[in-house]
Amino acid sequence: MFPTTCLCFLFFQFFASAASASTSSNDTLTTTGSINDGQIIVSTGNNYALGFFSPGNSSYRYVGIWFHKIPEITVVWVANRDNPLNDSSGVVSLALDGNLIISSSSDQRRPLWSTNVSVSDNTTVLKLLNSGNLVLYSGGGTSRTLWQSFDHPTNILLPKMKLRLDRRIGLNRVLTSWRSKDDPGRGIYSFGFDQRGSPQPFLDNGSTPVWRGGPWDGQRFSRSTQLAQSHIYSYAFVDTTDELYTVYDIYNSSIISPIVLDDSGALQWMTWVERNRRWIAFYSAPTDWCDYYGHCGVYASCRTDNTAECNCLPGFQPKSPTDWYLTEWSDGCVRKRPLGCDITGGGSGCIAWFGDLMDIRYFSDGGDDLYLRVDAAELAAQARKDKGFFHKKWEVIFTVCLVVGFLFFAVSACSLRKKRKDKNKRPLLDWRKRFEIIMGIDRDVLYLHEDSRLRIVHRDLKASNVLLNEEMIPKISDFGMARIFDGDQIQTNTKSGT
Ligand SMILES: *[C@@H]1O[C@H](CO)[C@@H](O)[C@H](O)[C@H]1NC(C)=O
Ligand SMILES: *[C@@H]1O[C@H](CO)[C@@H](O)[C@H](O)[C@H]1NC(C)=O
Ligand SMILES: *[C@@H]1O[C@H](CO)[C@@H](O)[C@H](O)[C@H]1NC(C)=O
Ligand SMILES: *[C@@H]1O[C@H](CO)[C@@H](O)[C@H](O)[C@H]1NC(C)=O
Ligand SMILES: *[C@@H]1O[C@H](CO)[C@@H](O)[C@H](O)[C@H]1NC(C)=O
Ligand SMILES: *[C@@H]1O[C@H](CO)[C@@H](O)[C@H](O)[C@H]1NC(C)=O
Ligand SMILES: *[C@@H]1O[C@H](CO)[C@@H](O)[C@H](O)[C@H]1NC(C)=O
Repeated sequence: MFPTTCLCFLFFQFFASAASASTSSNDTLTTTGSINDGQIIVSTGNNYALGFFSPGNSSYRYVGIWFHKIPEITVVWVANRDNPLNDSSGVVSLALDGNLIISSSSDQRRPLWSTNVSVSDNTTVLKLLNSGNLVLYSGGGTSRTLWQSFDHPTNILLPKMKLRLDRRIGLNRVLTSWRSKDDPGRGIYSFGFDQRGSPQPFLDNGSTPVWRGGPWDGQRFSRSTQLAQSHIYSYAFVDTTDELYTVYDIYNSSIISPIVLDDSGALQWMTWVERNRRWIAFYSAPTDWCDYYGHCGVYASCRTDNTAECNCLPGFQPKSPTDWYLTEWSDGCVRKRPLGCDITGGGSGCIAWFGDLMDIRYFSDGGDDLYLRVDAAELAAQARKDKGFFHKKWEVIFTVCLVVGFLFFAVSACSLRKKRKDKNKRPLLDWRKRFEIIMGIDRDVLYLHEDSRLRIVHRDLKASNVLLNEEMIPKISDFGMARIFDGDQIQTNTKSGT
């Protein structure tokens, strides 16, 4: 099932029956020339050739570009992919209006395929560059580009070739798979940018997403973790108001390394190993089940080193538990409890705010919690200060212990005095009670420091401020010097107080 199993076979299927070159190497075609079936033109530098070929077991004739240095025809671009010739009567030429056309020699006025650029220039020149780009120039020279094959990819991306979305004219250049090894016609798989949300490359099966590269994180497409930048290749992502594209390059230009979308829907980055005379794929997508779009459904995460591939995120549970435990994950997960913050439903006393915040005030009673998204570095700085605060807090707690110790003795002394006074009565305060009182004070201090929504530092804790009620529950009183801090505010200058 996994396309990875058919990695290296791709190119071996392209044994095409193109006739070997009968013309001498020449990379250009002018209005006076033509390329007949059986002839080829070769780029200066000998990297690429253009001519007629038949893929696999097909007998149809197509015009394509392939690697000139590799013995088996490995086609990187096809012109008339949906309109082949059924015999060897094909001719490639420049029409009177300047367009590049493919026609049958028996009927040159009705081309099977055309570059279809709206020009009227009888001085156009066609040139096959050593990058694999086939370029149609106007004006007799090579300065004004009318059309180029790099703008019309078939199923292969070559170094320096852009996978590009033109935002101005809304044109999306995508790779489209072959129908089969024998048919380079437009297949069902495509690979290109989807600009909904954060732009990212998508591999689609028809209109169904199969795999995605993930949004660009500044270094790479975030789901393509295997593709770290290296000393062998580099790739880039450009996103402007005019266009959106990704492009790669191989530093050593003699290394042959195309990115291929094969007819089984696998995207593979191949390289030709001259020593073994074969192709290897050093990157392939999708790689495993976790790579497949929506494999775990919503609100779940996928990992392959786990017994269960899919796991609901914290706070979520499988939407269809039976399916889920039968490893049918696609229904995903739902919240265990609905969110308290239902803004559209209303009545929950909750709001999400995205603009500037002002007119914030404290309510000593009631009021809502305010959660603010802030810079992480700023938070870390606060956390450091927080440590300082906790240090101070320990001082306070130490002080409290002293006070409590003092109280303990005071209370003990008091009760002892009482005991002596009235030996017939039960002791007013047994040890358990004393312990409870001490713990009670501690609890109050702790509450003041930790649990209370508004963080309170008492700053004047002493025995006279500790009141005992009828049940001997201690209450800390006298907040005259107390200061109120909000839950997040950190106060470090708590110098006063006992
Ligand atoms: C190659 O093309 C150039 C012009 O583009 C032409 O002058 C030359 O004769 C051609 N060579 C061959 C061998 O066809
Ligand atoms: C071509 O046909 C032969 C015999 O029918 C078959 O074994 C081979 O797989 C075919 N090749 C392709 C690329 O379809
Ligand atoms: C080849 O195609 C031509 C039209 O392009 C058609 O008239 C002819 O019948 C076809 N021949 C075969 C053998 O399919
Ligand atoms: C050529 O382009 C025109 C519009 O620019 C379009 O209507 C026509 O279908 C195209 N023809 C071919 C053969 O692609
Ligand atoms: C190109 O067109 C011009 C007129 O538009 C004509 O004079 C000239 O002879 C043409 N050249 C060729 C090579 O057809
Ligand atoms: C693509 O879709 C077709 C039918 O829609 C299906 O048979 C095929 O298995 C799908 N391929 C992948 C890789 O999902
Ligand atoms: C480029 O690659 C070729 C073939 O793999 C190798 O012979 C050559 O030494 C390489 N050049 C550099 C500069 O690495």
